[in-house]
Amino acid sequence: MHTQQRLAVEIAGLGSYLPERILTNSDLEKMVDTSDEWIFPRTGIRERHLLADDEATSDMATAAARTALESAGTAAADLDAIVVATCTPDYFFPATGCLVQAALGAENAMSFDLEAACSGFVFALTWAAGVIASRLAHNVLVIGAEALSRFTDYTDRRSCILFGDAAGAAVLRPAQNGGEFIYAELGSDGSRPNVLITPAGGARAPASHDTVERRDHYMKIQGREVFKAAVNKLTELLATLPERTGVSLDEVKMVIPHQSNVRIINSAFQRAGVDLSKAYMNIDRVGNTSSASIPVAMTEAVERGALERGDLVLFLAFGGGLTWGSVLIRY
Ligand code: ACO
Repeated sequence: MHTQQRLAVEIAGLGSYLPERILTNSDLEKMVDTSDEWIFPRTGIRERHLLADDEATSDMATAAARTALESAGTAAADLDAIVVATCTPDYFFPATGCLVQAALGAENAMSFDLEAACSGFVFALTWAAGVIASRLAHNVLVIGAEALSRFTDYTDRRSCILFGDAAGAAVLRPAQNGGEFIYAELGSDGSRPNVLITPAGGARAPASHDTVERRDHYMKIQGREVFKAAVNKLTELLATLPERTGVSLDEVKMVIPHQSNVRIINSAFQRAGVDLSKAYMNIDRVGNTSSASIPVAMTEAVERGALERGDLVLFLAFGGGLTWGSVLIRY
């Protein structure tokens, strides 16, 4: 999908939730054969948050949503739609979006989940901007929420060092503060499903004693393949932005990339000739939180005063599917 429209839709409020429990690199040293000296230089990660035993994705999503609604000054009952981007839902069904709707008391909102792995938030944001612009909805709550620790194999040192749990939320509505949704370029390539996959538990390999013994309900990643594909696509998205939008990267106040790996982001910026200081990074403290990473980072940037109303912000995402997205907004 490829659109370029000037839509008077803005992010009215933001919120995030990080669970209290923290897993550091030195904690991981006691679980698998690894070290902070290996993890930090290769990923940029020092620690990540993990949800409590009695928490699930919808709890984190609801907490982030409450803050976003409060900051937007929007009542839950005034929401027309809730979309939760997640690849780690509470259940296959009912949708996590429906659980969030009930927890918030958003009785007038249609609610559902959207699965596009690490690109989920930018896909959901684009859907929301479209339905508001076409007057199908007025107030839409977009959430990225992931309980990745529940699908992480803590005996596999190649993957368990990467992931954390979190939720981030944004309330979208017709612009009142001069914000706008400027450009979206979203894409997918489903030809290589195995590079990032949770092989079992779905219709292809339903849960069985064997699938559990093979640990196939955990995420499997081909790190090098994902790394190369992510760098190539993110470089292309950065390099083509000016010709596609007429907006130069000098005019963009901040790029908020999906926090996948500091080296993926560094390489893409370097190859596209973009100053790395434009990138907002918090991966050292949160790890890779898939669809939650962009709204969590943006909430933090706004809270710290690094982003203000009127600033141009570029979201960049790449993840399982494979999927990717580049979304330019005026905050
Ligand atoms: N600690 C110590 N040694 C390790 C660890 C570890 N945690 N993990 C791997 N190694 C070892 C391997 O066993 C291997 O040793 P060997 O050569 O003796 O077999 C060596 O280090 C190199 O392993 P690679 O897997 O090739 O390591 P690489 O340099 O590619 O780094 C990493 C791995 C960090 C996962 C990297 O590939 C990466 O970040 N990939 C992309 C991230 C990703 O897949 N994210 C998934 C979500 S999608 C997204 O967010 C974009």
